[in-house]
Amino acid sequence: MKKTKKAAPRRRTPPPPRVVIVGFGRVGGALALGLKEAGWNVAVLPRSADSVRRAASQRVFLADHDDLRAAHLCILAVPDSAVVPAMELVEEDLGPTTALVHCSGALPLAVFAGARSKRPFGSFHPLAAISDPKDPLAGHAVALASTDRELHASLERMAHALGMSSLEVPETGRSAYHAGAVLSAGLLVALLDGAVAALEEAGLDREVALQALLPLSRSALRGVQSRGLERGLTGPVVRGDVGVVQSHLESLPPELGSLYRLLSRRALRLTPALPPETRLALERLLA
Ligand SMILES: NC(=O)c1ccc[n+]([C@@H]2O[C@H](COP(=O)([O-])OP(=O)(O)OC[C@H]3O[C@@H](n4cnc5c(N)ncnc54)[C@H](OP(=O)(O)O)[C@@H]3O)[C@@H](O)[C@H]2O)c1
Repeated sequence: MKKTKKAAPRRRTPPPPRVVIVGFGRVGGALALGLKEAGWNVAVLPRSADSVRRAASQRVFLADHDDLRAAHLCILAVPDSAVVPAMELVEEDLGPTTALVHCSGALPLAVFAGARSKRPFGSFHPLAAISDPKDPLAGHAVALASTDRELHASLERMAHALGMSSLEVPETGRSAYHAGAVLSAGLLVALLDGAVAALEEAGLDREVALQALLPLSRSALRGVQSRGLERGLTGPVVRGDVGVVQSHLESLPPELGSLYRLLSRRALRLTPALPPETRLALERLLA
């Protein structure tokens, strides 16, 4: 008689970790709304009456003592300078194995060194410019760090639930990593402000200038997305147009001229295929 094979018992996916988020600002709000949408058990601990009201209006649960006690992850979505005070505020109420996680790009895990009890520590830093809690996190990367494998798996799972891809940053490279993140987001906005100022020099209205430049910036980013940095680069440097670069520098006020020179030197590094005499002329002009 033929032996029938017993079906292997199906592995059940464990339920998602229970999460408490301290702070209902931009990041705390975006995480809470995203996790709620993904069906996670999430509650928030806002500080001000205004934040309590905003959380309630979004139908996000407010954390009570039991939530803190039962949480697997307690995320401190507070300004960097408030991470330690917020940790001190909630530590006593957390369960003995609740992990503490900050959202800072700049702070190392050593910021938790003063914690009263030994528990897993981590960081969940979204590479997204979040200026409103309703800003989407899906499609963005997030840098993870943790002191514990189990916590790491939970943070990976959280990233996945939010539609984010994860990356790891060595603790020793934290500051350089965060400087890069700031260059690509907040300082990109500062650069755009410089571009708007150049159009104002030309006599255009500030708002008209911004609305005209935004699609241009987006097209540059699309080019980079499709073809990479080198092939996505456009402008007079990549064309080796020395005369145009010279006229730009003559037309700009000194502060914008310095910014233009600095960034054009960077563009020159991305442009290997220039005749040597053109490269030399550009290098002299941009020095
Ligand atoms: N925004 C971004 O684009 C972005 C991106 C990646 C990472 N991050 C990181 O995310 C973290 C939070 O930044 P955010 O932009 O979300 O800041 P935020 O919008 O200013 O929100 C911070 C929240 O923390 C609360 N808070 C401040 N001090 C507190 C304290 N001592 N105890 C408890 N709660 C306190 C505030 O509560 P009240 O409103 O009630 O006063 C506020 O809701 C930071 O570490 C930041 O570096 C931000």
